[in-house]
Amino acid sequence: MINNDSEDFAGQAQMSVVDSRTVVVELDQDHPGFKDAAYRQRRNEIAKIAYEHKTGMPVPDAPYTQEEDELWATILELLRPVHEQWACAEYLEYWDKVNFPEDRIPQMREVTESLRRLGGFSFEPVCGLVLPRTFLIELKNDIMLGTQYIRHYSKPMYTPEPDVVHELVGHGPMLAVPKFMEVNRLFGEVTAIADDALVQKLINLYWWSIEFGSVKEGEALKSMGAGLFSSIGELASFAERPQRDFEPTLMENTAFDPTQYQPFYFCGESTDDVVRILTEHLQNYLR
Ligand SMILES: [Fe+2]
Repeated sequence: MINNDSEDFAGQAQMSVVDSRTVVVELDQDHPGFKDAAYRQRRNEIAKIAYEHKTGMPVPDAPYTQEEDELWATILELLRPVHEQWACAEYLEYWDKVNFPEDRIPQMREVTESLRRLGGFSFEPVCGLVLPRTFLIELKNDIMLGTQYIRHYSKPMYTPEPDVVHELVGHGPMLAVPKFMEVNRLFGEVTAIADDALVQKLINLYWWSIEFGSVKEGEALKSMGAGLFSSIGELASFAERPQRDFEPTLMENTAFDPTQYQPFYFCGESTDDVVRILTEHLQNYLR
């Protein structure tokens, strides 16, 4: 989960620590869960897990309700056929290998166990959106920072902020694909030596590739991006919008707006080609 340095997500949550035992998530008035006291209480409990978490320790289970498990099942039921049509082959292959439960929200701990068995990354919890540097630098340690809460059940198709569906469904499978793991690590390694201007370029590049990149598979157009894998509406319609050449220098200098569907995408000739282009580009920063 990342934030664009210069722009806030509309309706995003803010966390504050009231005292050593109380963490409060402030939801915006137009957040779908604003008037649901029980939801807000759960959000506070989940934020506290992240606040108290120590890197490398097992992530405590989040307190999901039956309603939220059903919400996960509903979202997956709608997403899966769209994945089958539009997701790249690597995503579909590793979806099967990760083996998410379809009737309940998997705990972050379980998904990490599954990814680690495949040689993949670990998820570590954060309370909410983090700065690009904080997010990117952990990638060099095979760690992806993510949130545990799920969107409010009243709006299954909408969340004003990335939730557990985005983190686990969007990113999970690709974080066990060896060639994409390498690229994620490289983003982290470059971040470790980057000044603020370069971090901004890196987050732009990450956005247009790992979050929203597309690729050709023969004649077909496919997505390889986590932001699309977790959005039914955008994934189902991304092929209708312009596909630009996968040109990292252009991508890293292209700002993004996380609050709406992307107006265009950057499309590679294949996932191998995308990985090669990103690797060469990122390695240049390490020389
Ligand atoms: Fe993401």
